[in-house]
Order: sequence, then structure tokens, then C-alpha cells
Amino acid sequence: MEAEDHKGLERVLSQKALSMSSSFPCQICVVGFLCGVCLTSLFLAGLTSFGRFEFDGIQFHQISAAILPWSSNPQITLGDSDSKSRTVEKEENPRGTNLCCDDDKVSMLYSTWSTLLNESVDPWTNTKSSVLNAPHLENCKSKALMNKRLDTRVGNATFPPWTLWKGSLDVYAKVSEDEQLNDFRHQDISQGAYPPWISGSDEENYPLTRKVQRDVWLHQHPLNCHDPQVKFLVADWERLPGFGIGAQIAGMCGILALAISEKRVLVTNYYNRADHEGCEGSSHASWSCYFLPETSQECRDRAFELMNHKEAWDKGIIKEKENYTSKEIWAGRTPRNWGAPWSYLQPTTEINGSFVAFHRKMDRRWWRAQAVRYLMRFPTDYTCHLMNVARHAAFGKEAAEMVLANSNGDWLKDETDHPAPEIEKYVWSNRKPWIPRPLLSMHVRMGDKACEMKVVEFKEYMRLAERIRKQFPDLRSIWLSTEMQQVIDLTKLYTSSGWNFYFTNVKRQVSNITMATYEASLGRKTSTEYPLVNFLMATEADFFIGALGSTWCFLIDGMRNTGGKVMAGYLSVNKDRFW
Ligand SMILES: *[C@@H]1O[C@H](CO)[C@@H](O)[C@H](O)[C@H]1NC(C)=O
Ligand SMILES: *[C@@H]1O[C@H](CO)[C@@H](O)[C@H](O)[C@H]1NC(C)=O
Ligand SMILES: *[C@@H]1O[C@H](CO)[C@@H](O)[C@H](O)[C@H]1NC(C)=O
Ligand SMILES: *[C@@H]1O[C@H](CO)[C@@H](O)[C@H](O)[C@H]1NC(C)=O
Ligand SMILES: *[C@@H]1O[C@H](CO)[C@@H](O)[C@H](O)[C@H]1NC(C)=O
Repeated sequence: MEAEDHKGLERVLSQKALSMSSSFPCQICVVGFLCGVCLTSLFLAGLTSFGRFEFDGIQFHQISAAILPWSSNPQITLGDSDSKSRTVEKEENPRGTNLCCDDDKVSMLYSTWSTLLNESVDPWTNTKSSVLNAPHLENCKSKALMNKRLDTRVGNATFPPWTLWKGSLDVYAKVSEDEQLNDFRHQDISQGAYPPWISGSDEENYPLTRKVQRDVWLHQHPLNCHDPQVKFLVADWERLPGFGIGAQIAGMCGILALAISEKRVLVTNYYNRADHEGCEGSSHASWSCYFLPETSQECRDRAFELMNHKEAWDKGIIKEKENYTSKEIWAGRTPRNWGAPWSYLQPTTEINGSFVAFHRKMDRRWWRAQAVRYLMRFPTDYTCHLMNVARHAAFGKEAAEMVLANSNGDWLKDETDHPAPEIEKYVWSNRKPWIPRPLLSMHVRMGDKACEMKVVEFKEYMRLAERIRKQFPDLRSIWLSTEMQQVIDLTKLYTSSGWNFYFTNVKRQVSNITMATYEASLGRKTSTEYPLVNFLMATEADFFIGALGSTWCFLIDGMRNTGGKVMAGYLSVNKDRFW
């Protein structure tokens, strides 16, 4: 492994780069990569969040964890012993302080971005303002339009324009005169092989993910909703106060399984968590406030129309949730339309130190992953904005520092050159917003969950984090989601060992009040949106720690396994009750 380590470091590490660095908790000395530079206080951690960038003409490639073996030994020596070495003093630059510019500039840029965000101006490719792009923010308006386009059939096509091309690139391909290109495009679309919400290759997802997502979409979007053959299942989301947001989703996953098995189009109805002033118009009290709806508007309309016809009920064309027992919903049979792909799931989970190859509910785990992925396939403009706000609060300052450091402290765009914008519009528009990677997602649930499962101490979660870091030494950022103030307080104990914690700022549960009381105290909007944002942020992470005994973590795990992150693995402090 050591031999390969050198190849990654293709370029000279210059002392100048140190000015952009952030300090390491420990000192490392690296001797003789290509031309023998010894650095104390390495800037690798900084690099991992930059990805790849250029500095004074020297290009640095992202250096991943695998490249540098790590230990607490202050002197790690790599490479030829005869290479000459040079020592650079460790700089006193703890992460968080500015490396290039004064605080005023950072706050100025940060608050300009805040204003743009507040005014719903696109802060990414803002044309209204000449400040530098905000790398951590997304253009929600155009993203929403694109999602809508990718969720809608054109004419009598079987599928929406899902092709081998990503994002808006298809729009460009469409106007092309190239016949061969167009043939490929039509061929692709007619097969629907690439549901665009699935990232990663087939090996990086649960078996058959792409096929299942495509088929579920097709099932939920019949060509003609008025066809008398089309049957419906109309279901409200669970709304008893005891049901957490995760349990509501898990319940709907069960109902989707019933709908698929009985060849009914699932139409979700009243969603209490969207019954607030933030969700306006037709998205009020509906899942469609947060994600594109599970079926088309025509089918929704048709189902609601049929609900008024006694005959439709009598003939069983329409059914509702109340027609099913809770056993059918919660412990029903997983659809067999795709055989039994769960029987060959590969183990990627470690529970309390053991690698779990098999458990009793492999089918449910596979199905819930598919169902939650389908339901959340396309976030709405509204959700995108919530995510922008959350990322800005958590990473905005860091992003501003980074951007300023990269531009010599100049926070205005250079408006002198105007290159052709196509690549921005068609290619770069598809980028994912920046977050400080690698990022570890950690969900710590305590409090009243004790009645369902053995509650595990925060210390245990941090032990697992250290376990991951031993393997991936560049890891330092943790996205922590928890309801418990006491967990947030405990994070202070770990910052000295180099951990950076990020979390949303919300009033947290103190002492032993019940979850329902706590949620009520936040109000409906906050108590929905704060966990939702945490959930979506968690699914963006590179590493995962949680408690699979909790539905919430189970769903995050499902998103991992259908989001191209099977190989990220999952460390759990406990297992599901039913395994
Ligand atoms: C955002 O807008 C609201 C009113 O629309 C205002 O009260 C708030 O101060 C603004 N926040 C920022 C950061 O500009
Ligand atoms: C789809 O519509 C086009 C005309 O818009 C027609 O030529 C074609 O035959 C139709 N295909 C099917 C399968 O109905
Ligand atoms: C479903 O429940 C409704 C009442 O909620 C009832 O009228 C209808 O007959 C039931 N359908 C079936 C197929 O059991
Ligand atoms: C984890 O394993 C240890 C023994 O290896 C055992 O003592 C402990 O109870 C286990 N914890 C859980 C939560 O299962
Ligand atoms: C909360 O804790 C207090 C003591 O710490 C205990 O007396 C009380 O019964 C607890 N309440 C609940 C709902 O568990």
C-alpha cells in the first residue's frame, strides 16, 4: 500500500500552500515524495474540503484518506531515506481563523450571500450581484424546473426524458441536429434505464435499485389515469401524535408495498406535517410541499373524483388506508415483482463490532430503502431552499473564508471576461453544493426512545467515529443530528481531538420531556423541517454512524443504499428490534 501512496502526491508541496492550511492536531513529517519536502503541520485536511484547486500555478489533487497512513506517532516517514528534507515550522493557524483575509471581509461576503438567499436570488450564478458564487448554495429555481421536467412525460413517451446524460445536458442534446445522437436519446428514453435520481453505479446501490425505481415510477404514472383499469389506493399519512416523522414515512413505505402488490396507484393525501403556513397553495398539507408528489396530478384528481362514487368503492377500484389492517401495513409482504433481490444483499453494516451478513428482515430493509428513495426522489424548490439555509448556517462562514482565500481576498467577481456560458448552463449547473468533505453523519437519539431500544451513550458513538477515522485519517467533520441538548453539550469534549461538529441550531429537548411534547413546543413547521433538513444532510454524508434500532437511522441507511453509498458502510450501535 505504501508504494501506491506516493503516486497520489504528484506535485510539489510548497511552503506557500501552508498559508492556506489548517493545522493538524498532531504533527506529521512527510519526507521525500517526489522532491523531498518535509512538512510539519500538513495542510491535507484543508485540501480534502477543497477538492482540487490551483494555487499560484501549482495544482493540487485531492488527497484522500487512503494515501496517507496515519498514526499518532509525530514522525511518520515515507519515501527514500536519502531524500533531502526541510522542516517547516508548525503554523499557529487553528481551523476557523482566517488565513488570508480579515474577518470583516468574511462577514461581508457571508452576509451578502445571506441577503441573496433571503431574497431568493440565485446565489450560485447570481447575475444581479457581482459577488463571488456561493459554493455551498444551490440554484433552487432552476433545479426545481429541471426536476419537474424529469418527472414528466413528453407526449406519449413511456418515460420522462431520462437519458445517459445528466441534468440539463439533455436539453442541449435535444436541440442538436445530430441524428445519431438523437437516436441514442430516443432509445434511452424508451428504455427508461436511468432514473436520474439514482446516483452511483449499480454496484454502489442495492441490487436492482435502478430497475425498481423505474418500475415504481411507471407503476405510479399510468399513461392514462382515466383508464377504467387503473385502480387507486388513497392514504393519509399517519397522524397520531406518537408517530414521529420517520414512522410516518415507514408507514407509507408499507402502504406503497400494498399498492404495488395490488396494482393500485398510491395517492397520498393529508400530511399533517405540511399543514402550516410555509406550504402554500396545492402543496398545503401535502407531501408535495417537500418532494414532488408520488403520482401525477391527473391521477390524483382522478382518485379524488372516484372517492365520491359509491360504485368505485363497491367495485374495489378505490381503497383507502382504513381498508387495511395495521399488520398489513407495518408487517406486510414485500412486493415480489422483482424476485427476491434481498436474498443476495451484501453485508455493509457493522453492529457493535460484528459484521452483519444476514438478519431476519432483509426484505423489509431492501424495500424500505427503495420506497423512501422513490418518495424522496425529487425535492421541491421549497425543500431546496431549506437546505440552502441550513448549509449556509452550518458551512457558510467556512465557505466564505475558503472563497476569499482562493481569490486573494477579493470578493467581487472579475467581470472583465465573458466566456461562452454554455458549459455553465449545461454542465456545471448540475454540480452538488459544497460541504466540508469527508463528512460523517451521526444521528444520536436518546430521550424517550429508551422505551423501544437500549439507549447508547454518546461516548459509544464517538468511539465508532474514532474507529472510522483510524481507517480514514482525513476525517474530521461530523454532521450531528440529535434532539438532545445534553449531546450537544458533550461535543465540547471532543473538539480538542480534532473533531468539527456541525448541527442545526434549534431549541433542543432537555431533561425527559416526551418527544410529542417537545415537537409541540417547536411548532409544526420547525418540528418537521428541522429533522427533514438533518435527514437530507445526513444522506449527503460520506460515512454513517447511527442506531439501526431507530426508524430514522434505518431510513438514512436506506437512502445510503440507494444513493450510491453502499460502500460507505454503516456503523450501528444497535440493531433493529426485528432482526
Ligand atoms: C430576511 O428577510 C426578513 C424579512 O423578509 C428579515 O426580517 C430578515 O432580517 C432578513 N434576513 C437577512 C439576513 O437579511
Ligand atoms: C406517439 O405520438 C407520435 C406522434 O406524436 C406518433 O407518431 C406515435 O406513433 C405515437 N406512439 C405511440 C406508441 O402511440
Ligand atoms: C373500504 O372501506 C370502505 C369504508 O371506509 C368501504 O365502504 C369499502 O367497502 C371497503 N372496501 C373494501 C374492498 O373492503
Ligand atoms: C456489544 O457487545 C458487547 C460484547 O462484545 C456486549 O457486552 C454489549 O452488551 C453489546 N452491546 C449491545 C448494545 O448489544
Ligand atoms: C422525568 O425525570 C424525573 C426525575 O428526573 C422523574 O421524576 C419523572 O418521573 C420523569 N418523567 C418522565 C415522564 O419520565
